[in-house]
Amino acid sequence: MPKVLVTTGGGDCPGLNAVIRAIVKRAEQTKKWEVYGSMEAFNGVLRSPKEILPLDDEKVAGIHAKGGTILQTTNKGGPFNWPVKKDDGSWTAEDRSDEMIEYLKREGFEVVINIGGDGSQQISYDLHKKGLNVIGVPKTIDNDLASTDYTFGFQTAVDIATDAVDKLVTTAASHHRLMILEVMGRGAGWIALHSAIGGGAEVCLIPEIPYNLDKVLNRLNSRYNAGKGFAIIVIAEGAKPKEGSIMSRESTEVGYRNVRLGGVAYQLSDQLKKAGFENDIREMVLGHLQRGGTPVAYDRVLATQFGVKAMEMAINGEYGRMVSFLDHEITSVSLEQATKGQNLVDPNGFLVQAAKGVGISFGD
Ligand code: F6P
Repeated sequence: MPKVLVTTGGGDCPGLNAVIRAIVKRAEQTKKWEVYGSMEAFNGVLRSPKEILPLDDEKVAGIHAKGGTILQTTNKGGPFNWPVKKDDGSWTAEDRSDEMIEYLKREGFEVVINIGGDGSQQISYDLHKKGLNVIGVPKTIDNDLASTDYTFGFQTAVDIATDAVDKLVTTAASHHRLMILEVMGRGAGWIALHSAIGGGAEVCLIPEIPYNLDKVLNRLNSRYNAGKGFAIIVIAEGAKPKEGSIMSRESTEVGYRNVRLGGVAYQLSDQLKKAGFENDIREMVLGHLQRGGTPVAYDRVLATQFGVKAMEMAINGEYGRMVSFLDHEITSVSLEQATKGQNLVDPNGFLVQAAKGVGISFGD
């Protein structure tokens, strides 16, 4: 019986469970393939005792509607950077990829389906280059993965962020306030852009378009001067002023692979006050609420297609590739291509043009 190992890596994301369920269901149809899951990305294989569990129809029943991942996840460490504590209490990283690959081959795993974002797909590619059969499945609420038009989880995050804008409008209008909503989006402003359009914000600030504070102020003043005594700004966590740098925080978490962002809403609020904006401002950082809860139907459908496609690629021996949604087709791209660059908002694209067409300022 050929065996497939499923892993979920990086931040959790609505739709992960729907992918796992689709893989298991498609595999069961073959009456041949056995599916296993490694807990917390590759940690389940690297830990002793191993945390690898068999997955069947019963284990995945009804999970398509649940957020998070039944396999749990991590954005720390991994086979190439396994954290090891030294005698003096400090940490170092060990490359355990060879040992892991040997183990998986010895145990008869034909292929690994690794569901994750850019960091996880880099691991997929590096493992593939070392001779492990790997298939990637793209995941991230940020929608910033190269070589796929959409990732599952994004639509859910956009709905949550748009709902937040709708709710903030109520308070903003009642108090004549400026409300600043900070949403996720490290390098890509997709969530900010979609929720700013969907929620009808006045200003949208994204990493792809560094902003000029005076331009933001002008847009706010024109709105207040027109007698509309409130406004909404949606800002992506990775947005930065033209003359500034990205706002990040130190992380003390061992092996953490990301730069910790968060807090640009407060930074912008201070900048506006210093620049003379006199109306009341309140800031709201939406944070992990965007990643939590039930996936919307769109994400369940996309995730299901990704899962079935990944399993069919396993059956057909199409390794070293990542599932992808391109030009309305579910297809696949090489991991080499998938790990090159990012899917960023095009400042000259029609979505930005449409936003500008309804009066949204990007501070440019
Ligand atoms: O990459 C997805 C993402 O949600 C980013 O938008 C965000 O910056 C990051 O993960 C947060 O990660 P963590 O859960 O480790 O704080």
